[in-house]
Amino acid sequence: MIRLLKAGAGIALAGMLLVACGVTDSAPVDRSASTLSQGADLYQANCMVCHGSDLRGTDLGPPFLSEVYRPNHHADAAFLLAVQTGSRAHHWNFGDMPPIAGIDADDIASITAYVRSVQEAEGFEPYPPP
Ligand code: HEC
Repeated sequence: MIRLLKAGAGIALAGMLLVACGVTDSAPVDRSASTLSQGADLYQANCMVCHGSDLRGTDLGPPFLSEVYRPNHHADAAFLLAVQTGSRAHHWNFGDMPPIAGIDADDIASITAYVRSVQEAEGFEPYPPP
């Protein structure tokens, strides 16, 4: 009985957290399987050439698995901004990122969801790199 109560409280708490996030985050992240697979395809088509097919970077751009791209340091909004307006080199020496044409805000949200899911699965590399 006590265990059941605890489980119930846990579920209630999780529900409250979800509601709280929904209120504070203007664009709740959709992590459905279809969004993630669409995000993966869009990533490979538009970002992979610089950020790497495994998100570990290339000679042209930085790894998204660097801890500098943790959500608390580069929030999802940073992805929208970088893709739409480009990004001046400031963390690395790869040069500036150009704006990326041909993808809309929904596409960028899917890409961001995909990047977050890989970050969670793979963990982070130290920044600056060793
Ligand atoms: C032509 C190469 C290139 C392509 C293509 C590219 N990027 Fe980048 N991106 C870069 C470079 C270089 C930087 C690092 C700038 C720096 O020194 O901080 C960067 C940085 C970023 C950042 C961090 C911006 C910040 O606020 O610091 C985000 C987010 C990002 N890219 C997202 C993307 C996404 C999403 C795509 C695909 C839609 C993409 N990039 C495609 C080169 C690229």
